Order: sequence, then C-alpha cells, then structure tokens
Amino acid sequence: MSERDDASTYRSPVGTHDVLPPQSERWMQIVATFAERAARFGYGLVVTPIFEHVEVFQRVGASSDVVRKEMYELTDRGGRSLALRPEGTAPVVRAYVQHRPTPPWKTWYVAPNFRYERPQKGRYRQHWQLGAEVLGVDDPDVDVEVVALAHGFYTDLGLRRVRLIVNSMGAPQDRARYVAVLRDYLLSHADGLGDEFRARAEQHPLRLLDAKKEKWQDVLERAPQITEHLGDEEREHFEHVQRGLDALGIPYELDPRLVRGFDYYTSTTFEFASDALDGAQNAVGGGGRYDQLAEEMGGPVTPGIGFGIGIERVLIACEAEDLLLDPGPGLDAFVIDGVGDGTVAVLVAALRESGLRADRTYGGRSVKAQWKVADRSGAAYAVMLGRAEAERDAVGVKNLRTDEAQLEVPREQVAGWIRARREAPGLTEEHQ
Ligand code: HAM
Repeated sequence: MSERDDASTYRSPVGTHDVLPPQSERWMQIVATFAERAARFGYGLVVTPIFEHVEVFQRVGASSDVVRKEMYELTDRGGRSLALRPEGTAPVVRAYVQHRPTPPWKTWYVAPNFRYERPQKGRYRQHWQLGAEVLGVDDPDVDVEVVALAHGFYTDLGLRRVRLIVNSMGAPQDRARYVAVLRDYLLSHADGLGDEFRARAEQHPLRLLDAKKEKWQDVLERAPQITEHLGDEEREHFEHVQRGLDALGIPYELDPRLVRGFDYYTSTTFEFASDALDGAQNAVGGGGRYDQLAEEMGGPVTPGIGFGIGIERVLIACEAEDLLLDPGPGLDAFVIDGVGDGTVAVLVAALRESGLRADRTYGGRSVKAQWKVADRSGAAYAVMLGRAEAERDAVGVKNLRTDEAQLEVPREQVAGWIRARREAPGLTEEHQ
C-alpha cells in the first residue's frame, strides 16, 4: 500500500456492505422465497441495466428527494448522462415502452439500487430490492393481487410484526385539486411553525404530511385528507381494493397521511411497516399505482402498479423477530484421504456429480487433522479413503451425527448408499 492510501481505501464504500456466508444463505432464501411466490402468481423475471439515461429516473418526480439530492449521476466516455438505478419502477416501465410486450405484463425483479443518503441502520447507499410491477391493467383486482403477493411473502418468511398501510392518491386531477387545497391550508396555519415549514408547504405540500417534527403535528393531523377529495371513480376503485383485501383476509390500516416518496403515484398506494424496526426506517416495502408513467415516457396510456421490498430491512426484521436462520441441508459427505494417491479428487468429483454435497481438505493434511475438519463441517457422513479399504475397492463410512460404528461400503456404491440414507433418514444397516 502506498503512503497515500488511507485506511478506508480498501473497505467497502460508506453506506454499502458485503454479504458473506453464512448470512448470505438467508439472503438467498429470501430471494428464492420471493421468486417461487412470484412464479405462483404468474410473474416473470425482468432484468434491466444497473444504469439508465438520467431522464428515465427524472420521470419519477422532480419533488422526490431521490431525484433532487440522491442520484448517482455520471457522464460516460461518450458524453452520455447516465444514472445508477435509484429505484426499480422507472426501468421496468422504460423496458415496457421500449419492447411493448402484450399486456398484462406481470414482472418481478431483484436488483441493487443506489441513493446518496445519510447512512444509518436500515438506510444505505446501495440497497437491494425485490419488486413486482404489473403493466396494462387498471382493474382493482390487480391492486389486491399485488398487495397479496407482498403480504404473503412476509408471511412465508415468518414475519409477524409487519403492518400493511393503505391510501389512495386519487386520479391526477384529484391529486392536483387536493394539493392546492392542502397548500392553502398549510400556509394559512404556518405562523409560528418556522421558515422551513412555510417553504415546504409552498414547494411540496404533500411531502410535508408525513414530516416527523413534533411542533408541526397539530397542524398536520388536522390537515384536509386526500381521501375526501377523490372523484367517484377513484373512490369506487379504492373501495373495491379494500373489499378485495377483506375477502382475502389481509389486514390493513387506512392512513390518509401515507405519502410515498415519488411523484408518479396515482390511486392506490401502500406501505408495509415493521414494528420490529426503528421508526424512521420501519418500511420493509412499499408501492402503488403509477397510471401515467408509461405515457410520460412516450409510451401508450398504460396503467401500472407495483412495489419494492428492501432486502436489507427484511433481514434486519428477521433478526429483530428472532427468526432462526434455516441452516440449509449442509454437506452430505466429507471425504478423508488416508491414501494420498489422488483418488480423493476422483471420489469427491463422483459424489458431487451424483448430486451429493461433498467436500474435502487440501494440501495433504494428516488424517487426524482431516477428521477434525470433517467433524466441524456439519456433514452427515465422513467417507474414509483408507489404505486397507482401498485394497478391497471399498471406503469406510461413518455417520457423524450418531455414534454408529464405521462401516465398509464398496467404493462404487458409496454415492448411492449415502443418497438412499439422505432420502430415507430412518434407514439403518439392516435395511440394506
Ligand atoms: P421505496 O419506498 O423508495 O419505493 O423503496 C422500497 C423499499 O426499499 C422501502 O420500503 C425499503 O424497504 C427499501 N429501501 C428504500 N430505500 C432504502 C435505503 N436507502 N436503504 C435500505 N433500504 C431501502 C420504491 O423504490 C418504488 N420503486 C416501489 C414501487 C414499485 N412503487 C411502485 N412499484
């Protein structure tokens, strides 16, 4: 290292982190749980680039912090303005507009997102999201389906302290009318609440609604509510969604002050909050409708709805709820080499090719040392390649999880022998 390198140079950048085994096992299980559930609902995987033309993300809204302050923007060597993906919806809508798949287009994704935030527990500069987006249907049954997909995912993981909060932002004209009423109300109550309150009421009155500052709460709590400003169609849509959730037995709370962070939202919006997490970072997922986004990107009028779920926050919630990490199946066999003639590599390869999880040590370690590693490995069986057994084309097999004595098994049969016991754990030697 040169003298100019400081201690932080070769560490992951602030606000990012590595996912290493064994924690990565839970990470994989979370993704697999979601993938399996999305497939059951008829959603297909979509993979979009990590960076896009910056305009794609500017569509998510000029008033959002993400666009105003948090985007990682870069100019490539060809002079193009690009941005690292800060959220997952805009790229999927861009892909829809570009490829025009037949609607309804039901998609899911797992992808990293980048936001220049002030890092703290549950808030990172790179975070991963599992998400789903459905384009081309405005039927409120789809809103219910999308919410049910996310809700069932938390249930699958065993999370019990996740609450669903639902709101409606109305049609764009409802929203515009409401914003005007809200701005007037907030400004007429701004005396004594400070310059920041006044500035935010003028510029982004909706965003002010879920501000946490104590001395503003009185005024915010009494603010006019969006749900009182919905047109007939939107009110009916929202009621249909609520009836649908009731019919599926999905509990929810209505919160007219739920304001999501992007300007693209129309109609149904929702968030999943974990009571096991710290207040400010308790959203383990959120989403809603964005019925105009495709059109804003030059596509045909295409309603859309979806959500994003933060994997890191789900991991924190699992830990906070004491959900035990499923250790996975572990190794089936650990091979111990007492011969040293190269057979070990062939035997381990054969076990692995037969579908078993098998491992070994390297570097010609003593048999005693190898047994120690085998014991610690958690493997179900040790397979002993000993000199005496080798003369009979056999191996020794020892169950590492019981105190049964070591047995001798013909070498070409050992994979089948272990597989049979893996599939029928009660099988003992007499059943051979
Ligand atoms: P979002 O609410 O910004 O929505 O993010 C979705 C989820 O990602 C959050 O609920 C949270 O769990 C996680 N998350 C967000 N920011 C961070 C961060 N800095 N660190 C850790 N986790 C984070 C969206 O991104 C929308 N695209 C969701 C959507 C999809 N709406 C419609 N379709």
